[in-house]
Amino acid sequence: MTGFPMRPDGPTRRTMRSTGSLLVDNIGELVTNSTGGAGGPLGLRRDAALLVEDGLVAWVGPATDAPAADRRIDAEGAAVLPGFVDSHAHLVFAGDRAAEFAARMAGEPYTGGGIRTTVGATRAASDDELRATVRRLRGEAMRQGTTTIEIKSGYGLTVADEARSLRIAAEFTGDTTFLGAHVVPAEYADRPDDYVGMVCGPMLAAAAPYARWIDVFCERGAFDADHARAILACGQAVGLGVRLHANQLGPGPGVRLGVELGAASVDHCTHLSDADVDALAGSETVATLLPGAEFSTRSPYPDARRLLDAGVKVALATDCNPGSSYTSSMPFCIALAVREMRMTPAEAVWAATAGGAAALRRDDVGVLRPGARADLMILDAPSHLHLAYRPGVPLIRQVLHNGVPQ
Ligand code: NIG
Ligand code: FE
Repeated sequence: MTGFPMRPDGPTRRTMRSTGSLLVDNIGELVTNSTGGAGGPLGLRRDAALLVEDGLVAWVGPATDAPAADRRIDAEGAAVLPGFVDSHAHLVFAGDRAAEFAARMAGEPYTGGGIRTTVGATRAASDDELRATVRRLRGEAMRQGTTTIEIKSGYGLTVADEARSLRIAAEFTGDTTFLGAHVVPAEYADRPDDYVGMVCGPMLAAAAPYARWIDVFCERGAFDADHARAILACGQAVGLGVRLHANQLGPGPGVRLGVELGAASVDHCTHLSDADVDALAGSETVATLLPGAEFSTRSPYPDARRLLDAGVKVALATDCNPGSSYTSSMPFCIALAVREMRMTPAEAVWAATAGGAAALRRDDVGVLRPGARADLMILDAPSHLHLAYRPGVPLIRQVLHNGVPQ
């Protein structure tokens, strides 16, 4: 987990620490993602307890050995999991595109062309309107178990609008991503080279103070490999980590470019060649799959089984945005991944927690072991299996973020 900048925690993480110790007791099934050779890939423990101190996990062990604590939460035999890590979300926008969705369900294809509609609405919105949307979606996600979320810019596409998108995003998370290269905006339609120059110059300079990551939509109709390489190299030069939208709408060079540049993650991965899979398998780059996008665009799902069988590290994320995937629900993505992408429930839960953490190059979340953040959820169910087995049911009974009940 080196080589990538670790920004200071966002304000939520800094200020909302609990005081005193808190014991979560009577846990029927604890997903730790901390194997130590036992409990399978999820590091499952039965009849467990977990102690929280100063916002961190202080101890994990058998309920019978649980230490005394100032306060206690009785999990009543339910399953407890690390909070979800949603490593791909576009929350800074205005308006919605429900009519575009309805048209798709009536047979229109998804092309990404609607991004410019959201750009217009976002530019016209006030800071407070954008902030209110991020707050609403962040709250929605938290209630569904997401305790870490990455937030991208990408609907401003001017120097000022990209900078303010990231400034607002940084009020909610430390994992902010500069996506000035989402599409070429209408006013640059005839001169994409000029737009790329602007992204690498004044836009990056204005955005970088608020960003940890840089991202490019590398796709036919958006940015080609040369433009993507140039933009990502500029971001790396100012200390941003690389992630990439790649191979979403068709085959292309994005995945291999991401691997070549040492990207933490390449996202979508819907149309992959054998060479793409081989490149991922021989790398540290995570393949982040976004099944909400295939659901909402009625497209074929990525082949998660092929990636997993090749030894690729896979993450699941929502891609929450008003165009291609207007869901903030990680449980929904888990259910889709199991039903439609041939992931086992355990693989999907790992991908939505530890996988997301790997995609953000973080080792303090997505795992429940001493020293990790006390970010966890108590289910209204005895096992993680129920997240896919009971789709559409609100199974998240309680969420702790930095040890604080939400
Ligand atoms: O990840 N692919 C590019 N960006 C988003 C879609 C954005 C939109 O349609 O508004 C995505 O799917
Ligand atoms: Fe996206």
